[in-house]
Amino acid sequence: IELQRPVGDRIVFDDLERLSFRVDRRAYTDDDVATQEMTRIFDKCWLYVGHESEVPGPGSYVARDVGGRPVVMARGSDGVIRVFANSCPHRGALVCSQPAGQARSFRCPYHDWTFSNQGELVGVPIPDGYGPGFRKADFGLARHRSDTYRGFVFATFDPAQRRTLTEYLAGATEYLDLIDDQSEVGMEVIQGAQLHGARANWKLMMENSVDIYHFRALHKRYVGYMESLGSVPPRRRGGFGRALGLGHGANELPPAAARPLAYWTPMFGEEYRPRIEATAARFVDRFGAERAERITRTNRALLIFPNLMIIDAIAITIRKIDPVSAGQMAITSVALAPRDEDPDIRELRKSHYLTFMGPAGFATPDDIEIVESCQRGYLNRAVRYSDLSRGMNKEVPETTDELPAREFWRQWDRLMHGEQPR
Ligand code: FES
Ligand code: FE
Repeated sequence: IELQRPVGDRIVFDDLERLSFRVDRRAYTDDDVATQEMTRIFDKCWLYVGHESEVPGPGSYVARDVGGRPVVMARGSDGVIRVFANSCPHRGALVCSQPAGQARSFRCPYHDWTFSNQGELVGVPIPDGYGPGFRKADFGLARHRSDTYRGFVFATFDPAQRRTLTEYLAGATEYLDLIDDQSEVGMEVIQGAQLHGARANWKLMMENSVDIYHFRALHKRYVGYMESLGSVPPRRRGGFGRALGLGHGANELPPAAARPLAYWTPMFGEEYRPRIEATAARFVDRFGAERAERITRTNRALLIFPNLMIIDAIAITIRKIDPVSAGQMAITSVALAPRDEDPDIRELRKSHYLTFMGPAGFATPDDIEIVESCQRGYLNRAVRYSDLSRGMNKEVPETTDELPAREFWRQWDRLMHGEQPR
């Protein structure tokens, strides 16, 4: 079916009769498309900012770019998490130049205007230079609407966004629950973010992060290494992909490798077995056998439209992905862990995160290299479309199918054409 679009050219060709799904490669390369994405997607959606554990106590803050805009996520002295524009209301300088820290106030380095960690302008040097109409209350830091779901903090730049965060997350809440349920006392980001990037369009990395089809092909080296440790079961099918609504999607896989949470395999060594099995038993007590299995053993990749990926496999990796230009993206990568984790198990987790999902791990450099390779391949415009139709012929797509990526693209297409999203 050829859908009639009210605005602009068609880029996504979603043909349910011929079971074909194609994306015009201009979506990855065109500067006009990249500009429109900023106003139609990143200025409108709820965007992932960070995890509440990154601002653990009153006065703690992180400063980062979200959807191309510098923001500060700060926990005020009153304990409330707020998201502010990191731009001085005076003339625009960044009021916070450190990536993270602890502050009762933020002082803009340009003329020393000072803001409390709750965003109010509290001090102006040489205040008698202003007329009687100048009121400090009019010059607080601009605050963005923000909200938290199970520790994950999101903000939207659209004051008219009609969905609450929970409504916006749609079916993805089920997966955030499976992640946050991994600790009774809460999850925390392990200190230190890895900031990296790729010379490729941001959407390539969003697709890649839910693409299980490539695993054994692209990551041969890693698979070979895991096999040499006896940690990868023989190739088998199983698991399923899901569209979670409003552009979100997930893949669930049977356990493929050890998980530092509550799933022991010989890869860990005998000495860890009693502790990991005791943790596993506690999950069964709390949640029953079936949900405990899903929380502790099942691997999952979760895509939350437009900028968040959580890969909950051999460690939990959170990737925030931001477009820089049509051919360039920025990636912020952190690891999430149960707050009450055994210190030895925490070391195993850190090693899994760093050696697999981190930017210098076994897998991510392969992924960066291949998305950059796709971007280069698009330079030859003789090949106009990419194909994402795998699994369209199935009632229940498997993990190696491209259903979550299609869900992403369908929402992308609706927003880019100004349609009221479903
Ligand atoms: Fe910030 Fe002047 S720009 S105080
Ligand atoms: Fe990969």
